[in-house]
Amino acid sequence: ETESDDFVVDDEIVKKIFKVRNEFSHKGTYGKATIAGGSYGKIGAAVLSTRAALRTGAGLTFVLAPKCGYEILQTSDPEAMFIEGGADYIDRFEIDETSVCGIGPGLGTHKKTSESLLKFLKNYSKPLILDADALNILAENPDNLLLIPEKSIITPHPKEFERLFGNTDNSFERTVLAQKKALELQIYIVLKDHHTQIITPEGKVFYNITGNSGLAKGGSGDILTGIITSLLAQHYSEEQAAVLGVWFHGKAAELASEMHSKESMLPTDVIAEFGNVFAELN
Ligand code: APR
Ligand code: MG
Repeated sequence: ETESDDFVVDDEIVKKIFKVRNEFSHKGTYGKATIAGGSYGKIGAAVLSTRAALRTGAGLTFVLAPKCGYEILQTSDPEAMFIEGGADYIDRFEIDETSVCGIGPGLGTHKKTSESLLKFLKNYSKPLILDADALNILAENPDNLLLIPEKSIITPHPKEFERLFGNTDNSFERTVLAQKKALELQIYIVLKDHHTQIITPEGKVFYNITGNSGLAKGGSGDILTGIITSLLAQHYSEEQAAVLGVWFHGKAAELASEMHSKESMLPTDVIAEFGNVFAELN
């Protein structure tokens, strides 16, 4: 049995985590974020993730994507710098350790992408954010899990969690399994769902209650990855970045649904509410 501390992520917790931006600062103060993702037909995932990172306040944002994403990304988000990683899929990960890296949105699971991701992980030791197809690639072989750098944050939805760690009978058992894996691998697990849970390597469980079914749409997860990557780049701790990021994502969704309805709101509209969420925090 794992000893556990349970918390509901409320306004008090979040306001304690949030750091007001310092007027006497420069872009170096807020770190470098790199999003690695996108493949032919899924460049949109990289766009959403990159834009979410930009709109969360990182000092410099980079996007590592295949050549077919070059014009799309440079046009949609000129503030982000493009690093080419291949043709129609990423076949090369060249990310320096001075930036915080979120890998996975729209990445695809092409054999060359998979090989280059695993090779990259063998030589990389800083905490990463791993999502979507990065997790699907890791799930191909249980030994791959050992390549995840300690203190990394993984953001699986229930299906991705099952591919990584196996099936459970109910959500309680899934939480217990997540605690066991977070401890074993010394990672943070963001178990995405209606009420997302953040599980720490020490066995703490944070229950998030912001968000709504307007997020049940392709692209919602991609923006969460951008948010958490950007917060970690800005020197929040892993626990703080995961907890604040998940709360923030849900809060922005609540504001977007007031404006557009749960049916009609898009991940782009959620990003458009980030400013209002920051206004509440400040
Ligand atoms: N209530 C509250 N939050 C919700 C709800 C809901 N009913 N439904 C979804 N969400 C939130 C989740 O908590 C999560 O933060 O929306 C996000 C959905 O993330 P994903 O399931 O990763 O969705 P998506 O953005 O479509 O993923 C894009 O990644 O999972 C891969 O291959 C998959 O193409 C997909 C890509
Ligand atoms: Mg996803």
